[in-house]
Amino acid sequence: MVSPFEVLDVDEDADDEAIERAYRERVKRAHPDQGGSIEEFQLVRRAYRELSERDRNGDGDGEGVDPADVDLAEGSDAREPRSTRVEFLDYEAVVDYGWSLDDDELFRKASHADLDPDAHGRLLVHPDESLLEAAERSGFAWPFSCRGGACANCAVYLAEGELSQPTDHIMPDDLAERGFRLSCNGYPLTDELSVVFNVKQRPELDDLILPPGPFTRR
Ligand code: FES
Repeated sequence: MVSPFEVLDVDEDADDEAIERAYRERVKRAHPDQGGSIEEFQLVRRAYRELSERDRNGDGDGEGVDPADVDLAEGSDAREPRSTRVEFLDYEAVVDYGWSLDDDELFRKASHADLDPDAHGRLLVHPDESLLEAAERSGFAWPFSCRGGACANCAVYLAEGELSQPTDHIMPDDLAERGFRLSCNGYPLTDELSVVFNVKQRPELDDLILPPGPFTRR
């Protein structure tokens, strides 16, 4: 067993903010896209989850994570990490209903709005898939253009969870901090995500959009 504090390289009396900061830094380095391994990536995720749950449950110490038993789906192969569950919502529905992206009740409202299945629903992202790839495998036509981090045509708004970004992506820091991410090469860093797709029509993304081309959807 390895202490989750050790995995995240934080002191045992670290507060939530320090743990969150350490996790974000650590999970970036552990991500398979950045030279880490799936095992290390899952170990970091599990350590973070354990510390988060410890806080919620009021437990005083993290029990420890076993590197040989990281983040396994029940009944799955022992080395297979779990898929990520995604609840998605089309930005067009947000506009049509006059909702706001930063409304904490956004997805609850969407659940009660009887939207089409391609406008609001759920999908699974397998461990080796980007969010856009998972949407396409599930039969959805989300917007994209370059598929290489050079535009914002595939942008999504992250209401919950975390999605990785390639190091050389185009999204400015202020927009990334507000929750905008690229779905074409964004890989889930959490077990659950809530995302609004099709946000490329937001005015703050105007300058980052590529004009329609042969590989552009919507
Ligand atoms: S499609 Fe251009 S960055 Fe994703």
